[in-house]
Amino acid sequence: MTQVPARAPRFVQAHLATPADLAEDRTALQAGLLRTPASVSPKYFYDRLGSRLFEAITELPEYYPTRTEAAIFAAHGAAMAQCAGSGATLVDLGAGNCAKAASLFPLLEPSRYVAVDISVDFMRDALRDVQREYPQIAMTGVGMDFTRSIELPAGLIDKRPLFFYPGSSIGNFTPADALAFLRRVRAQAGGGGLLIGVDLVKSRVLLERAYDDELGVTAAFNLNLLRHVNAQIGSDFHPADWRHVALFDEAASRIEMHLEARRDLTVRWPNGQRGFRAGERMHTENSYKYTPAGFAALLAEAGFAPGERWVDPNGWFAVFWAPAR
Ligand code: AVJ
Repeated sequence: MTQVPARAPRFVQAHLATPADLAEDRTALQAGLLRTPASVSPKYFYDRLGSRLFEAITELPEYYPTRTEAAIFAAHGAAMAQCAGSGATLVDLGAGNCAKAASLFPLLEPSRYVAVDISVDFMRDALRDVQREYPQIAMTGVGMDFTRSIELPAGLIDKRPLFFYPGSSIGNFTPADALAFLRRVRAQAGGGGLLIGVDLVKSRVLLERAYDDELGVTAAFNLNLLRHVNAQIGSDFHPADWRHVALFDEAASRIEMHLEARRDLTVRWPNGQRGFRAGERMHTENSYKYTPAGFAALLAEAGFAPGERWVDPNGWFAVFWAPAR
């Protein structure tokens, strides 16, 4: 018997963060700590432990988005595939372990899969496994910060582009930044479109429970950011000095996460320091919630054509198909 060589995914590191980028990140981080109120970008949640804690969050009974979105895909995946058409280049923004996209391969039947994530290392093993399961699909892993630039290496999109942005990660952007991001996707998606998951406005209790669970996993996820910040700038945050706070700001239509100082304290790092009073808060995340009509309007404003949307029976979460004609 002849051995057929297994197809292997290609890996590309695009826009590798330069030492200047990293220095800029550290400067921005320190500036945020010195602001009043202090704030830290939610990207600092995701070190190795933070990524694992987020995976744990998605399994919590209170955290409805992941399983609700999965149920929408399960119920309407065939209709989504009808909209998107087979043979596309599926561009997965924030691919992570590639599991969500891979579960849709049998329906979407892409000819090429481009997995984009900030860390090419995190998805390396996952993409190899997925490639083994779907040898007929050409696969490329691209390491890049797509929130900065969405321009993919030339030649990668050789078929109709189908952008995939599940998980309601769009909620981390302010509406203005979300619009700018959607416009950049629209500019790349010509002839194809965007399949995107969006968390919807709902009752305060349900929202606040989803971001402050009984087991304290979300609290650990929020507090872990302090360890990550310490590793980045050499600061001396002690997680035990801080309390997790999650609250729904109805006027802004967003869940806010904060860390609240349990006592008066001073945080020091090599180039600076910052005092916090007991009860003073540091802002770590916004998670915007949309109405179906509100998000459809945002897609239209970004230049997408009218498409489709699928919502779960409770009206908690929506998946939108936005064609880029
Ligand atoms: C990954 C941004 C979609 O906003 O629900 C989960 C992050 N923060 N619990 C979200 C998160 C706290 C999550 N996103």
